Amino acid sequence: MNATANKIIFVGGKGGVGKSTSAAAIAWKLARENKKTLLISTDPAHNLGDIFSMKIGGETQKITDYLHALEIDPERETTKYINQVKENIRGTVQSSMIEEVDRQLDTAKASPGADESALFDKLISIILEEAQDYDHLVFDTAPTGHTIRLLTLPELMGVWIEGLLKKRRKTNENYTQLLNDGEPIEDPIYEVLLERQNRFSEARKIMLESDKTGFIFVLNPERLPILETKKAIALLDQYHLHVKTVIVNKVLPEEADGAFLAQRREHEKRYMQEIEDTFPEQRKIFVPLLPHDITTLDELDAFSENYVFD
Ligand SMILES: Nc1ncnc2c1ncn2[C@@H]1O[C@H](COP(=O)(O)OP(=O)(O)OP(=O)(O)O)[C@@H](O)[C@H]1O
Ligand SMILES: [Mg+2]
Repeated sequence: MNATANKIIFVGGKGGVGKSTSAAAIAWKLARENKKTLLISTDPAHNLGDIFSMKIGGETQKITDYLHALEIDPERETTKYINQVKENIRGTVQSSMIEEVDRQLDTAKASPGADESALFDKLISIILEEAQDYDHLVFDTAPTGHTIRLLTLPELMGVWIEGLLKKRRKTNENYTQLLNDGEPIEDPIYEVLLERQNRFSEARKIMLESDKTGFIFVLNPERLPILETKKAIALLDQYHLHVKTVIVNKVLPEEADGAFLAQRREHEKRYMQEIEDTFPEQRKIFVPLLPHDITTLDELDAFSENYVFD
């Protein structure tokens, strides 16, 4: 199946190989075909704004009628999330406790993992809710390790929440028997956890459906990107997330001449062969090295012609 036929496309890869440029080019091309597309950066070191020469940030921005973009801002999402938790809790604790609960939550905001968790929640809400307004979602991701963690979180969090729910059930059963004469007790926290679990499993289901979600890895014809991509693909396979397409970016163009480049091309040939051998099952798209960076919409428009998926 053609990778851009997927509703959701994740673009991953090693640092600096051209993930953001590729994600932007793919999104641009879809938008030009009148497919309403949302391009989302999950990389805390965002650079979509640089590609489109405009400030994007944590609120969805309109680039054209068909192309919108968003750079998820973990800090902003954490604040939003904590405020929402504060609201939810207000109804369930005594008013004398509220100040203390707020203080605890403000500490939680600064705790390790808070950003990651907020980024993850936003990712889930984009996949489950915002997706309804778009034909395609294209995710530009952070370098490999961060992204693998993000993509495998639905499964990991699912297991974790299942553990919490079990504990909670047990406690509630004890309560019911000891204090409530066998009447089941109401537990808003159990309900909240259950709802989170449902959201994670729904998002995971979408990510596992190969006709809905596609994973693309970008690499360059060089030793380290090949090695890293091989490992990442194997790891994602274990989570049943299958990378079906690799983009081989920055391939020396035929017309590049001179002794230095001739030597470099010889070298590259070896890696091109290695890419064929290492990724026999993936569709490969070859994108040439340009003599310059891609910094304007005209350049992106011309560059996006290289992304032919069928
Ligand atoms: N085919 C190409 N030809 C020339 N320059 C390119 C090409 N692809 C990407 N670049 C340039 O290489 C640099 C890195 O690209 P990009 O930012 O897309 O990589 P990235 O993988 O997103 O990096 P990071 O891991 O930092 O997010 C940019 O300056 C970009 O303009
Ligand atoms: Mg990038």
